[in-house]
Amino acid sequence: MLKNDLILRAARGEKVERTPIWLMRQAGRILPEYREVRAKMGGFKELVESPEFACEVTIQPVDHLGVDAAIIFSDILVIPEAMGLPYEMVEKRGPWFEKTIQSASDIERLKVAEADDVRYTIDAISLTKKELDGRVPLIGFAGAPWTIFSYMIEGSGSKTFSKAKKFLYTEPKLAHQLLEKITKSTINYLKGQIAAGADMVQIFDSWAGILSPDQYREFALKYIAQICDAIDEVPITVFAKGAYFVRKELGELNCNTIGLDWNMDVAESRVLIGPSKTLQGNLDPCVLYAEDEVIVEKAQEMLKAFGPQRHIANLGHGVYPDIDPRKVKLFVDTVKEFRF
Ligand code: CP3
Repeated sequence: MLKNDLILRAARGEKVERTPIWLMRQAGRILPEYREVRAKMGGFKELVESPEFACEVTIQPVDHLGVDAAIIFSDILVIPEAMGLPYEMVEKRGPWFEKTIQSASDIERLKVAEADDVRYTIDAISLTKKELDGRVPLIGFAGAPWTIFSYMIEGSGSKTFSKAKKFLYTEPKLAHQLLEKITKSTINYLKGQIAAGADMVQIFDSWAGILSPDQYREFALKYIAQICDAIDEVPITVFAKGAYFVRKELGELNCNTIGLDWNMDVAESRVLIGPSKTLQGNLDPCVLYAEDEVIVEKAQEMLKAFGPQRHIANLGHGVYPDIDPRKVKLFVDTVKEFRF
């Protein structure tokens, strides 16, 4: 039994006594406690692939920041790896893939991943559920097919992801074949996370904002919809960063919660998305560089814009690594203390 189920109730549209809060990228470099464990372990992947350490850093923000949910420490890139494209996390530069997808035969060679291919994260979830002992819900996650596709084609991060976008225009059939394989893998993986104890899952479409609306509908939204339709065990959140142009369609997905980034006006989003979804977000992470009074003021403004129900407080994207954890805690406390 969960002692704090505010986030799950908010996701389902049930009444809450106060607005719950968690932060994207809360488990990670903002916390000195994470950096310590990370230094001991060596690389990022070693941490991800060790259920004991992943469990430890997953729980750190619950202990040190007081958030209303934990998110399992892993990465969206475990899926390309499970399908046959291993990645490296290069210090200060980000993800890097030695092999990328270029042709039909590259796509044929990829397997549809099973949850068991990401055993370490599944085990980390079982262990974390046990260690959390019902204090807060545990969030599982995966990348959205389009965002995973972009890394598999591009082989690294990119400002424009123009190779991935080029592939959509020049090889649309192959693009769909690859997106289908990613979608099936993602459904298997999320189902495995839920079976291991994830109380809620989030789909991160980090590169949604670089597609045109037509491309987004054809190559991204369609596959997110398939995932949402396949998952009915726990509440599901879709966070499509920058996808302001499809908010109406996001509102029609078979999911509970839509994440908003800080560019999206709250009132306008509510109208476009409709009354039947919970909204998550959307403080600009850079507010947390400001003076304390500004953080409190902006957090309260945000809470009032969303209103008392059907809101899960969060940032509009992940917390930046150089933000002072004390400022992050001030944001969390401000939300937890606020009453309408
Ligand atoms: O706290 C949490 O949110 C849980 C853990 C988590 C990580 N990555 C750990 C991580 C989650 C949910 C992710 C998702 C993820 N990973 C996304 C989607 C969310 C987003 O930010 O848009 C994306 C695009 C990735 C891919 C990725 N992983 C990149 C581009 C990078 C390098 C840039 C960066 O932020 O460092 C990573 C590395 C990564 N993933 C770190 C962490 C804690 C930093 C690694 C380290 O140096 O310790």
